[in-house]
Parts: sequence; structure tokens; C-alpha cells
Amino acid sequence: MKLSPSIYTADFGRLGEQIREAEAAGVDWIHLDIMDGRFVPNITFGPLVAAAVRRYTRLPCEAHLMILEPERYFADFKQAGVSRLIVHVETCPHLYSTIQTLRQMDVQVGITLNPLTPLCMIEEALPLVDLVLVMTVEPGFGGQRYIPSSTQRIAAVRQMLDRVGSSAELEVDGGINIHTICDVRDAGATIAVVGSAVFNDKYSVAESVNMLRAAARRCSNEDDQAPLS
Ligand code: DX5
Ligand code: ZN
Repeated sequence: MKLSPSIYTADFGRLGEQIREAEAAGVDWIHLDIMDGRFVPNITFGPLVAAAVRRYTRLPCEAHLMILEPERYFADFKQAGVSRLIVHVETCPHLYSTIQTLRQMDVQVGITLNPLTPLCMIEEALPLVDLVLVMTVEPGFGGQRYIPSSTQRIAAVRQMLDRVGSSAELEVDGGINIHTICDVRDAGATIAVVGSAVFNDKYSVAESVNMLRAAARRCSNEDDQAPLS
């Protein structure tokens, strides 16, 4: 299972160092949580910080846009070197056009939805996207508890993707840690966003990533995992 650490919970005073530690630990993506104080209560950062992150790592970066009218900022994030833009369907009344706009910009396209937004809101867009992100907490804050009913939703999205023959990534975001990673993996997720379980005061980034990988290896369907030595 791929890991996409969210810098939201990193130490911003030594952000470059933390990103390098994550890259050295073998993570796959860097996740940028963009919040506007409108769609979600919090405010984080914008394209300027995304561009700074870009300079510290060779890993691809994805921006999770928790902002109203996200299309106003697509070009800025692309310019900042972000490879994948993820929009909330709640903020995109004209989703087909939004997806086309992103396609023309030559970035990967991700769509996401809040924990109680009905899954039919994404169903018809599935053949058009590179990634579906299932929110497993209400967006807006790091360090929240995984909502248990999310597991059913991930499995349902897995089925929907398989039904249309889509090879899109199925990503999960919120409350993923050593206790929840197996649930989401077994339900069919292919990438986990991880904030506080990677960037925290208790363990180094490398230790945290190793603990998550070890937990993922203990899942029930571990066929594609290397055996523990
Ligand atoms: C929530 C964000 C998440 C969050 C993850 O709004 O989208 O990416 O920062 O943090 P943890 O893993 O601590 O829940
Ligand atoms: Zn996120």
C-alpha cells in the first residue's frame, strides 16, 4: 500500500527536513492539505508553500483542495509543481467541466467527498479520474478519529471502480494509523494519506513509517507484501 504523508501535522519550523526524512523512509507521495477557512474552518497554506515543498523533494506532490471555487487556483498549483489536484465534489457543481479543465492542464485528476456525501455524487465521474479519495474524517483538522462506517464506503467505492473497469487509485484520508490501516487496505484502498501517524512528537518519521508498513504487512490479504524476515 502506498503512503502519502500530509505535511499538515509536520513541524513547519523544519519542514524541509521533515519532508526529506519522509522521502528517505520510502514514502510515495507528499500530500498538501489546502484549507481556505470557508469550505472548512481552518486555513493552511497555498501555492507558495507548495512550491517550497517541491524544491525539497523529488517525490510527486498532490494537493487536496478544501477550498471554495478551487478552479481559481488550479494554474497556481500546477505552476508550483503539483502533479495531482484533488477537488471536493461539494465545491464543484459543474464537475465534468472541472475534470476537463484539469485534464487540459496535464495534471492527474482526483475527486473526493465528505464522509456523509452520498457515493452517487462520484459514480458517473469514476471513468474520468485518476484517483478517488474517500474522506474518513470530516475535513478540516489533523489528528481526528477514523469514522468506523468509512470502511463500508471504501469497499463500496472499490466495487464501483471494479465495475467500470477503472484502475484509478483509491485513496483514504483521516485517522489512518497502525490500528486502522488494515481496515482500509482490506477494504480495497491503494494509498493512505497519513498525517499525525507520520509527523508526531513521539517517534521519528522513519520509525513511524516503519511501524505503518509493519502494520500493513499484518493485514489479512497480504499476498502482495514481502514476508516478514
Ligand atoms: C483532514 C486532512 C487530512 C489530515 C490527515 O482535513 O485532509 O489530510 O491532515 O491527518 P491525520 O492523519 O492526522 O488524520
Ligand atoms: Zn487531505
